[in-house]
Parts: sequence; C-alpha cells; structure tokens
Amino acid sequence: MRKSALTTLIAASVAAAAVTASTQAFAYGAGDFFTRVGVAKVEPKSDNGTILGGAEVEVEDDSAFAFTLGYRFTDKLGVELLAAEPFDHDFQVGNITGGSTEHLPPTLTLQYYPLGGTDAYVQPYMGVGVNYTKFSDEELDADLSVELDDSWGAVGQLGVDLLIDDNWALNGAVWYMDIDSDVKVGGADAGKVEIDPVVVMGGISYRF
Ligand code: NI
Repeated sequence: MRKSALTTLIAASVAAAAVTASTQAFAYGAGDFFTRVGVAKVEPKSDNGTILGGAEVEVEDDSAFAFTLGYRFTDKLGVELLAAEPFDHDFQVGNITGGSTEHLPPTLTLQYYPLGGTDAYVQPYMGVGVNYTKFSDEELDADLSVELDDSWGAVGQLGVDLLIDDNWALNGAVWYMDIDSDVKVGGADAGKVEIDPVVVMGGISYRF
C-alpha cells in the first residue's frame, strides 16, 4: 500500500472515531476499538544465515511509518493487527555482493492486558500471534536475479499504553518475529536467510 493510501486510511479512521465517540467516559477495557500510530524500526538479528555455499548474510535495519488496528473483547483480552508501509532493507552477502529488498510484515496478535478494566494509567500488554512477510523488489548489485520466499512465523509482543485521557495514550511496543525465507539466486536454491527481527514501535494510541 502506498503511503498516501495509508495516510488516508488513518485520517478516515480517526475521523470516524471522532464522530462515533460520545462524550461519555470509557474505561480502558472491554469493547474498545483502538489504533496505534507511529514509527517502527525493524532490527534483524545479527547473524542472518549463509547462502551460496557459505557466504554470510547481513541484513541492515530499516524504519518506516506503521500503524495498528485492534479490538478488546474483554477488559483483559484483545486482538491487534500491525501494518506498515514497506520496509526497505539493504543486505550484504559475504564479500560477494550487496543487495536490497522491500517487505511487508502484517502481524496479528492475541493480547492480554493484566490491568485492563482498572483505573491504572500505565497499561502494559503482552501478545502472541503470527506474522506473514511478503518480500518484493529483491535486487543484487551483482548481475543475478534474487528471490525471497514469503514467510509465516510465530510472534511475541510486549507493549505499554501511558494513558493521557479517555481516548489518547502514549504507546511503546516491541514484537519479536520469526521471519525465515528460502532464497533463490539466478533461479536456483541458494539457502535460507533468517531475519528474525525485533520490531520496536513508538507513537500514540487512540481508542474509542
Ligand atoms: Ni527464524
């Protein structure tokens, strides 16, 4: 999705929220819809596997605009979907070549809010779920084609909302994602890269 489309979607969600929210004070808990908006940094783990018979892969960090949409079924249980504009990572393959790839990592987590339904201003949460990562625009500096397979993997999440009022909060969250991808170079199987990043996001929460 393009950035302008994301911006429009966020603006529409916030506008819809403003229209539908009544003046009644809501507790932090059951029945809340929420969106979290901010900047997310994807930090791949340090060793990203070897391909092409022993060349070590190093994948660099990238940051991008990200947002989430979620719902709280009960005071303590919710679900959240993380989306973002595409991340663009440079990588190095041993001394052989550099390259780059874009990816989109939509991530769904089921969440537990231990202080949900209370008056606490600090509302931590933890989640487990699943990540799907689609790679695109893979390129090598060397004159060879490269292709990264889509990845499905498990996710763990920790986050906290620091409540400002009945709608707004400051938010920080981290996800650990298991992202592994089979690599083809020049059309032939070349090995597997393990990106397994920590994704750190800081921003604001809006609930309604
Ligand atoms: Ni992995």
